[in-house]
Amino acid sequence: MSKHTVKTIQAMRDNKEIITMLTAYDYPTAKKVNDAGIDMILVGDSCAMVVHGHPNTLTATMDMMVLHCGSVARACDRTMVIADMPFGSFQYSVEDTMKNAARFVTEAGVDGVKFEATHNHIEKTKAVVEMGIACVGHVGLHPQAVGALGGLKAQGRDITSARKVVSEALALQNAGCFSIIFEAVPTKLADYVTKKLDIPTISIGGGPKCSGQLLVTPDVLGLYDNFIPGFAKKYVDVGQIMTDTFKLYATEVREGLFPEKKHSYGMSDEVLEAIVKEFG
Ligand code: KIV
Repeated sequence: MSKHTVKTIQAMRDNKEIITMLTAYDYPTAKKVNDAGIDMILVGDSCAMVVHGHPNTLTATMDMMVLHCGSVARACDRTMVIADMPFGSFQYSVEDTMKNAARFVTEAGVDGVKFEATHNHIEKTKAVVEMGIACVGHVGLHPQAVGALGGLKAQGRDITSARKVVSEALALQNAGCFSIIFEAVPTKLADYVTKKLDIPTISIGGGPKCSGQLLVTPDVLGLYDNFIPGFAKKYVDVGQIMTDTFKLYATEVREGLFPEKKHSYGMSDEVLEAIVKEFG
Protein backbone atom coordinates (compact mmCIF):
# COMPACT_ATOMS: atom_id res chain seq x y z
CA MET A 1 0.00 0.00 0.00
CA SER A 2 1.21 3.50 -0.76
CA LYS A 3 1.62 6.19 1.85
CA HIS A 4 -1.39 7.73 3.58
CA THR A 5 -2.25 11.28 2.62
CA VAL A 6 -4.87 13.80 3.69
CA LYS A 7 -7.07 12.27 0.98
CA THR A 8 -6.82 8.63 2.15
CA ILE A 9 -7.34 9.67 5.79
CA GLN A 10 -10.45 11.65 4.79
CA ALA A 11 -11.67 8.67 2.73
CA MET A 12 -11.31 6.41 5.77
CA ARG A 13 -13.47 8.78 7.81
CA ASP A 14 -16.06 9.05 5.00
CA ASN A 15 -16.20 5.22 4.70
CA LYS A 16 -16.48 4.91 8.50
CA GLU A 17 -13.18 3.01 8.73
CA ILE A 18 -11.61 3.76 12.11
CA ILE A 19 -8.25 5.57 11.83
CA THR A 20 -5.38 4.24 13.97
CA MET A 21 -2.67 6.55 15.29
CA LEU A 22 0.25 6.14 17.72
CA THR A 23 3.10 8.33 18.80
CA ALA A 24 6.71 7.46 17.92
CA TYR A 25 9.98 9.29 18.47
CA ASP A 26 12.69 7.08 16.95
CA TYR A 27 13.47 5.05 13.82
CA PRO A 28 13.11 1.46 15.15
CA THR A 29 9.79 2.09 16.91
CA ALA A 30 8.40 4.03 13.96
CA LYS A 31 9.36 1.16 11.65
CA LYS A 32 7.39 -1.31 13.77
CA VAL A 33 4.41 1.07 13.89
CA ASN A 34 4.59 1.49 10.10
CA ASP A 35 4.94 -2.25 9.50
CA ALA A 36 2.00 -2.97 11.83
CA GLY A 37 -0.22 -0.98 9.46
CA ILE A 38 -0.96 1.94 11.79
CA ASP A 39 -2.37 4.78 9.67
CA MET A 40 -0.77 7.83 11.31
CA ILE A 41 2.13 8.63 13.65
CA LEU A 42 2.33 11.71 15.83
CA VAL A 43 5.87 12.65 16.82
CA GLY A 44 4.46 14.25 19.94
CA ASP A 45 6.17 16.79 22.13
CA SER A 46 5.37 14.18 24.80
CA CYS A 47 8.87 13.19 23.64
CA ALA A 48 10.20 15.64 26.25
CA MET A 49 8.60 13.51 28.97
CA VAL A 50 8.65 9.92 27.71
CA VAL A 51 12.05 10.01 25.95
CA HIS A 52 13.96 12.82 27.68
CA GLY A 53 12.57 12.45 31.21
CA HIS A 54 11.30 16.02 31.68
CA PRO A 55 8.28 16.55 33.98
CA ASN A 56 6.13 18.08 31.22
CA THR A 57 6.18 18.90 27.49
CA LEU A 58 7.26 22.53 27.84
CA THR A 59 10.97 21.81 27.44
CA ALA A 60 10.63 20.26 23.98
CA THR A 61 12.52 22.45 21.49
CA MET A 62 12.42 22.82 17.72
CA ASP A 63 15.85 21.19 17.37
CA MET A 64 14.81 18.24 19.56
CA MET A 65 11.56 17.72 17.65
CA VAL A 66 13.12 18.07 14.19
CA LEU A 67 15.75 15.46 15.09
CA HIS A 68 13.15 12.96 16.32
CA CYS A 69 10.82 13.69 13.39
CA GLY A 70 13.57 12.97 10.87
CA SER A 71 14.28 9.53 12.33
CA VAL A 72 10.56 8.68 12.39
CA ALA A 73 9.91 9.96 8.86
CA ARG A 74 12.77 7.83 7.45
CA ALA A 75 11.09 4.70 8.86
CA CYS A 76 7.66 5.26 7.30
CA ASP A 77 6.73 4.26 3.76
CA ARG A 78 3.04 3.79 4.60
CA THR A 79 2.19 5.63 7.80
CA MET A 80 1.52 9.37 7.60
CA VAL A 81 3.91 11.23 9.94
CA ILE A 82 2.75 14.34 11.80
CA ALA A 83 5.19 16.59 13.68
CA ASP A 84 4.03 18.20 16.92
CA MET A 85 5.10 21.85 17.09
CA PRO A 86 6.65 22.51 20.52
CA PHE A 87 5.88 25.28 22.99
CA GLY A 88 7.22 28.60 21.71
CA SER A 89 7.29 27.53 18.05
CA PHE A 90 3.87 28.91 17.10
CA GLN A 91 2.91 31.35 19.88
CA TYR A 92 4.84 34.45 18.77
CA SER A 93 4.01 35.37 15.19
CA VAL A 94 2.58 34.11 11.93
CA GLU A 95 6.04 34.35 10.36
CA ASP A 96 7.72 32.30 13.13
CA THR A 97 4.98 29.67 12.89
CA MET A 98 5.41 29.39 9.12
CA LYS A 99 9.21 29.12 9.38
CA ASN A 100 9.02 26.48 12.12
CA ALA A 101 6.37 24.45 10.27
CA ALA A 102 8.56 24.58 7.16
CA ARG A 103 11.57 23.22 9.11
CA PHE A 104 9.63 20.04 9.88
CA VAL A 105 8.92 19.52 6.19
CA THR A 106 12.31 20.49 4.74
CA GLU A 107 14.67 19.17 7.46
CA ALA A 108 12.71 16.18 8.81
CA GLY A 109 10.57 15.18 5.82
CA VAL A 110 7.30 14.80 7.73
CA ASP A 111 3.89 14.72 6.05
CA GLY A 112 2.22 17.33 8.21
CA VAL A 113 2.28 19.30 11.44
CA LYS A 114 0.05 19.65 14.50
CA PHE A 115 -0.07 22.41 17.06
CA GLU A 116 -2.09 23.24 20.15
CA ALA A 117 -3.85 26.12 18.43
CA THR A 118 -6.56 28.05 20.29
CA HIS A 119 -8.73 30.86 18.91
CA ASN A 120 -5.60 33.04 19.15
CA HIS A 121 -3.79 30.92 16.56
CA ILE A 122 -6.32 30.66 13.76
CA GLU A 123 -4.45 33.09 11.49
CA LYS A 124 -1.27 31.06 12.05
CA THR A 125 -3.13 27.83 11.21
CA LYS A 126 -4.45 29.38 8.01
CA ALA A 127 -0.96 30.59 7.08
CA VAL A 128 0.56 27.09 7.52
CA VAL A 129 -2.25 25.51 5.47
CA GLU A 130 -1.79 28.23 2.85
CA MET A 131 1.89 27.20 2.55
CA GLY A 132 0.62 23.76 1.49
CA ILE A 133 1.44 21.97 4.74
CA ALA A 134 -1.10 19.42 5.99
CA CYS A 135 -2.22 20.61 9.40
CA VAL A 136 -3.84 18.79 12.34
CA GLY A 137 -5.71 20.71 15.08
CA HIS A 138 -5.76 19.76 18.76
CA VAL A 139 -8.61 20.63 21.14
CA GLY A 140 -9.52 19.78 24.72
CA LEU A 141 -6.54 19.29 27.00
CA HIS A 142 -3.52 21.26 25.79
CA PRO A 143 -0.57 19.85 27.77
CA GLN A 144 1.49 22.95 26.85
CA ALA A 145 -1.01 24.97 28.94
CA VAL A 146 -0.36 22.82 32.03
CA GLY A 147 0.65 25.90 34.03
CA ALA A 148 -2.49 27.89 33.26
CA LEU A 149 -4.74 24.84 33.65
CA GLY A 150 -3.20 23.87 37.00
CA GLY A 151 -2.48 20.32 35.85
CA LEU A 152 -3.21 17.82 33.10
CA LYS A 153 -6.98 17.71 33.58
CA ALA A 154 -9.94 16.71 31.38
CA GLN A 155 -11.53 19.63 29.53
CA GLY A 156 -15.00 20.39 28.15
CA ARG A 157 -16.96 19.26 31.20
CA ASP A 158 -18.55 22.62 32.07
CA ILE A 159 -20.36 24.95 29.69
CA THR A 160 -17.48 27.42 29.22
CA SER A 161 -14.93 24.74 28.57
CA ALA A 162 -17.31 22.71 26.34
CA ARG A 163 -18.06 25.84 24.29
CA LYS A 164 -14.31 26.40 23.84
CA VAL A 165 -13.82 22.81 22.57
CA VAL A 166 -16.69 23.08 20.07
CA SER A 167 -15.89 26.57 18.80
CA GLU A 168 -12.16 25.85 18.45
CA ALA A 169 -12.83 22.63 16.55
CA LEU A 170 -15.13 24.49 14.14
CA ALA A 171 -12.63 27.34 13.73
CA LEU A 172 -9.76 24.89 13.08
CA GLN A 173 -11.77 23.04 10.43
CA ASN A 174 -12.58 26.41 8.90
CA ALA A 175 -8.89 27.36 8.95
CA GLY A 176 -8.08 24.30 6.82
CA CYS A 177 -7.02 21.58 9.29
CA PHE A 178 -7.54 18.15 7.71
CA SER A 179 -8.09 16.44 11.07
CA ILE A 180 -8.47 17.35 14.74
CA ILE A 181 -7.19 15.57 17.85
CA PHE A 182 -9.55 15.55 20.86
CA GLU A 183 -7.60 15.08 24.09
CA ALA A 184 -9.26 14.28 27.44
CA VAL A 185 -12.79 15.47 26.67
CA PRO A 186 -16.12 13.80 27.50
CA THR A 187 -17.28 11.14 25.01
CA LYS A 188 -20.64 12.91 24.51
CA LEU A 189 -18.90 16.16 23.53
CA ALA A 190 -16.40 14.48 21.17
CA ASP A 191 -19.29 12.56 19.59
CA TYR A 192 -21.31 15.77 19.14
CA VAL A 193 -18.43 17.60 17.47
CA THR A 194 -17.45 14.56 15.37
CA LYS A 195 -20.96 14.61 13.88
CA LYS A 196 -20.79 18.39 13.27
CA LEU A 197 -17.41 18.30 11.49
CA ASP A 198 -16.67 17.15 7.95
CA ILE A 199 -13.08 16.15 8.77
CA PRO A 200 -11.79 13.19 10.84
CA THR A 201 -11.57 13.50 14.62
CA ILE A 202 -8.91 11.52 16.49
CA SER A 203 -9.48 10.66 20.14
CA ILE A 204 -6.90 10.43 22.88
CA GLY A 205 -9.22 10.31 25.85
CA GLY A 206 -12.15 11.51 23.74
CA GLY A 207 -14.05 8.21 23.81
CA PRO A 208 -14.93 5.65 21.15
CA LYS A 209 -17.10 7.80 18.86
CA CYS A 210 -14.34 9.74 17.10
CA SER A 211 -13.11 8.83 13.60
CA GLY A 212 -9.88 7.43 15.04
CA GLN A 213 -7.89 6.62 18.15
CA LEU A 214 -4.44 7.76 19.33
CA LEU A 215 -2.28 6.54 22.19
CA VAL A 216 1.20 7.44 23.43
CA THR A 217 3.33 4.41 22.47
CA PRO A 218 5.41 4.21 25.68
CA ASP A 219 2.05 3.97 27.57
CA VAL A 220 0.98 1.12 25.25
CA LEU A 221 4.28 -0.70 25.79
CA GLY A 222 4.62 -0.10 29.52
CA LEU A 223 7.80 1.90 29.01
CA TYR A 224 6.87 5.04 30.93
CA ASP A 225 5.20 5.17 34.31
CA ASN A 226 6.13 8.60 35.73
CA PHE A 227 2.68 9.83 34.67
CA ILE A 228 -0.12 7.54 33.47
CA PRO A 229 -3.15 9.42 32.10
CA GLY A 230 -6.62 7.98 32.66
CA PHE A 231 -7.04 7.31 28.93
CA ALA A 232 -3.84 5.25 28.62
CA LYS A 233 -3.91 1.48 28.06
CA LYS A 234 -0.89 -0.74 28.67
CA TYR A 235 -1.08 -3.60 26.15
CA VAL A 236 2.21 -5.22 27.13
CA ASP A 237 4.85 -4.70 29.81
CA VAL A 238 7.92 -4.23 27.62
CA GLY A 239 9.48 -2.30 30.50
CA GLN A 240 9.43 -5.46 32.65
CA ILE A 241 10.72 -7.56 29.72
CA MET A 242 13.63 -5.10 29.34
CA THR A 243 14.49 -5.15 33.05
CA ASP A 244 14.38 -8.98 33.12
CA THR A 245 16.55 -9.14 29.98
CA PHE A 246 19.17 -6.73 31.37
CA LYS A 247 19.29 -8.79 34.61
CA LEU A 248 19.80 -12.01 32.61
CA TYR A 249 22.61 -10.37 30.61
CA ALA A 250 24.31 -9.20 33.83
CA THR A 251 24.04 -12.70 35.34
CA GLU A 252 25.51 -14.34 32.22
CA VAL A 253 28.39 -11.86 32.07
CA ARG A 254 29.15 -12.25 35.79
CA GLU A 255 29.01 -16.05 35.53
CA GLY A 256 31.18 -16.20 32.39
CA LEU A 257 28.33 -17.57 30.26
CA PHE A 258 28.55 -14.68 27.82
CA PRO A 259 30.23 -14.26 25.38
CA GLU A 260 30.24 -17.77 23.87
CA LYS A 261 32.58 -18.90 21.09
CA LYS A 262 30.04 -17.85 18.43
CA HIS A 263 30.13 -14.24 19.71
CA SER A 264 33.98 -14.08 19.56
CA TYR A 265 36.59 -13.67 16.79
CA GLY A 266 39.42 -16.14 16.11
CA MET A 267 43.02 -15.64 14.89
CA SER A 268 45.82 -18.03 13.84
CA ASP A 269 48.36 -19.25 16.44
CA GLU A 270 51.17 -17.98 14.16
CA VAL A 271 49.97 -14.38 14.39
CA LEU A 272 49.66 -14.59 18.17
CA GLU A 273 53.13 -16.17 18.45
CA ALA A 274 54.58 -13.36 16.34
CA ILE A 275 52.90 -10.77 18.59
CA VAL A 276 54.23 -12.43 21.75
CA LYS A 277 57.73 -12.57 20.23
CA GLU A 278 57.57 -8.88 19.33
CA PHE A 279 56.01 -7.50 22.52
CA GLY A 280 57.22 -10.11 25.03
O1 KIV B 1 2.63 15.13 22.49
C1 KIV B 1 1.73 14.29 22.33
O2 KIV B 1 1.95 13.07 22.38
C2 KIV B 1 0.39 14.82 22.08
C3 KIV B 1 -0.77 13.88 22.21
C4 KIV B 1 -0.99 13.54 23.64
C5 KIV B 1 -1.97 14.42 21.54
O3 KIV B 1 0.25 15.96 21.82
